[in-house]
Amino acid sequence: MTQKIILQGEIELLEPSNVSKVELSLLKAAQKVSENSYSPYSSFQVGAAVLLENGEILQSSNQENVSYPVGVCAERLVLGYAGANFPDQFPQIIAIVARRKGDQNWAKVSPCGMCLQGINEVEQRFGKPITILILRPDQSVYRVEGVKNLLPLKIDDLTS
Ligand code: THU
Repeated sequence: MTQKIILQGEIELLEPSNVSKVELSLLKAAQKVSENSYSPYSSFQVGAAVLLENGEILQSSNQENVSYPVGVCAERLVLGYAGANFPDQFPQIIAIVARRKGDQNWAKVSPCGMCLQGINEVEQRFGKPITILILRPDQSVYRVEGVKNLLPLKIDDLTS
């Protein structure tokens, strides 16, 4: 017999007025750092900001390369920096924003598969889910409690 398995993920869609102060400051930090994006090949300027357990906020933008695969996404850069400099601090929240160069409005964005796997590794390391915030073009925000909601069949779930 062949069974069909439906994989599900839960995402909260927050109206701008329901975004908390802390969440707003993270989104703002991500917006600001997206201006430092080095993205001459895609013109897609991404910013990611992380809130550490100690209250510190870290941020990074995407950094591209003429050899395209060498480029690194904003999410993996900021999480790598957090791990390298604050190895004992859990990154509780990661906020992600993106905008096409020259556009006024913020773009639709979602972490790529490599970044989801990168977020998963940090969750496994600390044994708890990371809250992922994604800014939407209409200023509403996706709030996701743990990467499993965006990557249901994670490599470390394959045996369960
Ligand atoms: N990018 C990110 O930095 N984060 C995302 O969530 C989506 C994609 C970057 C990779 C590349 O530099 C550019 O955006 C276009 O894909």
